[in-house]
Amino acid sequence: MATGMRRGLAQYGDAAFSLFLRKAFIKAMGYSDDALGRPIVGIANTYSDFNPCHATVPQLVAAVKRGVMLAGALPMEFPTISIHESFAWPTSMYLRNLMALDTEEMIRAQPVDAVVLIGGCDKTIPAQMMAMVSADVPAVVVPTGPMLTRTHGGERLGACTDCRRWWARFRAGEIDATEIDAVNERLAPTAGTCMVMGTASTMACIAETMGASLPGAATIPAVHAERLRLAEASGARAAALATAPIKPSAVITPASVTNALVVLHAIGGSTNALIHLTAIAARAGIAVDLDRFDAIGRDVPVLVDLKPSGQHYMEHLHEAGGLSAALRELAPLLHLDAPTVSGRTLGEVIAEGEIVAGQTVVRPFANPVFASGGLAVLRGNLAPGGALIKHASATPALLTHTGRAVVFDSLADLAARIDSPDLDVTADDVLVLRNAGPVGAPGMPEAGYLPIPRKLAQRGVKDMVRISDARMSGTAFGTVVLHVTPEAARGGPLSLVRDGDMIRLDTPARSLELCVAPEELVRRSETVKHAPAPSAPSGYRRLYVAHVTQADRGCDFDFMLPETFGARAPL
Ligand code: FES
Repeated sequence: MATGMRRGLAQYGDAAFSLFLRKAFIKAMGYSDDALGRPIVGIANTYSDFNPCHATVPQLVAAVKRGVMLAGALPMEFPTISIHESFAWPTSMYLRNLMALDTEEMIRAQPVDAVVLIGGCDKTIPAQMMAMVSADVPAVVVPTGPMLTRTHGGERLGACTDCRRWWARFRAGEIDATEIDAVNERLAPTAGTCMVMGTASTMACIAETMGASLPGAATIPAVHAERLRLAEASGARAAALATAPIKPSAVITPASVTNALVVLHAIGGSTNALIHLTAIAARAGIAVDLDRFDAIGRDVPVLVDLKPSGQHYMEHLHEAGGLSAALRELAPLLHLDAPTVSGRTLGEVIAEGEIVAGQTVVRPFANPVFASGGLAVLRGNLAPGGALIKHASATPALLTHTGRAVVFDSLADLAARIDSPDLDVTADDVLVLRNAGPVGAPGMPEAGYLPIPRKLAQRGVKDMVRISDARMSGTAFGTVVLHVTPEAARGGPLSLVRDGDMIRLDTPARSLELCVAPEELVRRSETVKHAPAPSAPSGYRRLYVAHVTQADRGCDFDFMLPETFGARAPL
């Protein structure tokens, strides 16, 4: 196969002319024949003024380039889409697949022998890993890294677990506008990704676990010099992979997917990460089964004591030895022979990890943060295709609960009525939001963390059972049932719930039931009017609505699933 500048030449029927033309143009940027004769490492630059989680990307790109050149290859930086959680309408999830397509096709279109993927904010590492699997060009993932923390009134703040906690206090009237403004100034004190175990941190841990990034990549703070050295090392490693490839198809395997499922439970990771991991695995033909994931969680406790399930922040996990400290504790459950882009097996990487005596962030099996895995899969007549709850960060007393449904038909309905003094709701009720799934919203917003109705919040209610076909931020907490599948807009049973119906959540039994007679549900299904499908006359929205899959398939586009999908299962 052609390498370097000879890869993917324009097709004029004369390859020598195509190369002549390509070199003529690129020489306009000052490259010499010596440079153009080297192996090429592409660097995906996701800097954007709209993405503070990627604010350090220019420095990371410079460091990666240094590493590539020190190793004798030619670095070539190129832009891709950049997605930030707060600047992606209608939702960042809606754009994840677009970023995956963009990244994949740019890897394929340009003459790169290996690529370094610099991402960080929630959807970006998932999109890049989906792309890397489909393109199957050697790739090293470089997360931008987590923010450092700041304090307010002596109390440590973390984006965005504490964004929600402090906003809930403001809604409840416990603090005033001046204080919430002060908190707003301090929640995100440095560049980088949210520093709790939210989706960004979880996906960085999954990338490192699966061997797609170098050791330490998940936890080094964004603004530490150590991260620049990691970027330089990643560039050098990518240059080595350009001539001695370890392709994503050798890294994303049933063994590494299982390792990721174990780690997802043990770190108290984000619910979103299961969707992303499912999508990444699916592109490699590997089907993640929800029940298998749940079964793994019964044997894997939460060991990493980070918010929102625990107490600490990513900088503390890094000080405690980084992800490898957790991997070492989990070693008996991991496939240690799984290859990594470092050229070493996962077991060898763990063996070289730092051991920090006396650290308390990564707990031993005998003293876990939570006795079982962080996430549980629920099934029942309300979620025949499954639903997810992060029971490690829920209110224990609500994990088994029966309550009266208070139903919101859409995000607009929720916004219009949740704070109405006339809303018929008590703390024992179950808040239901529907038509907020992949198709219904569209884009499956992080709306599953429904706000506590103001009149209850003002009486001190902190948590209620909440059920939806939406997602929730990985930084959020509470007794929140998410990803109900199939979603209401695809005719799921959520569309049949009426105000006043009783709903039973039994997390230990992994059950979610609508307590309505089957014949009544059949009768309702014949008469229920589904919300009209979101209008999508043209463009990306039309593509998205027509082809996005449900949460249990990773919300990828159906046409991205390879013919081999399902041929392999996690080991
Ligand atoms: Fe980017 Fe949290 S908003 S990681």
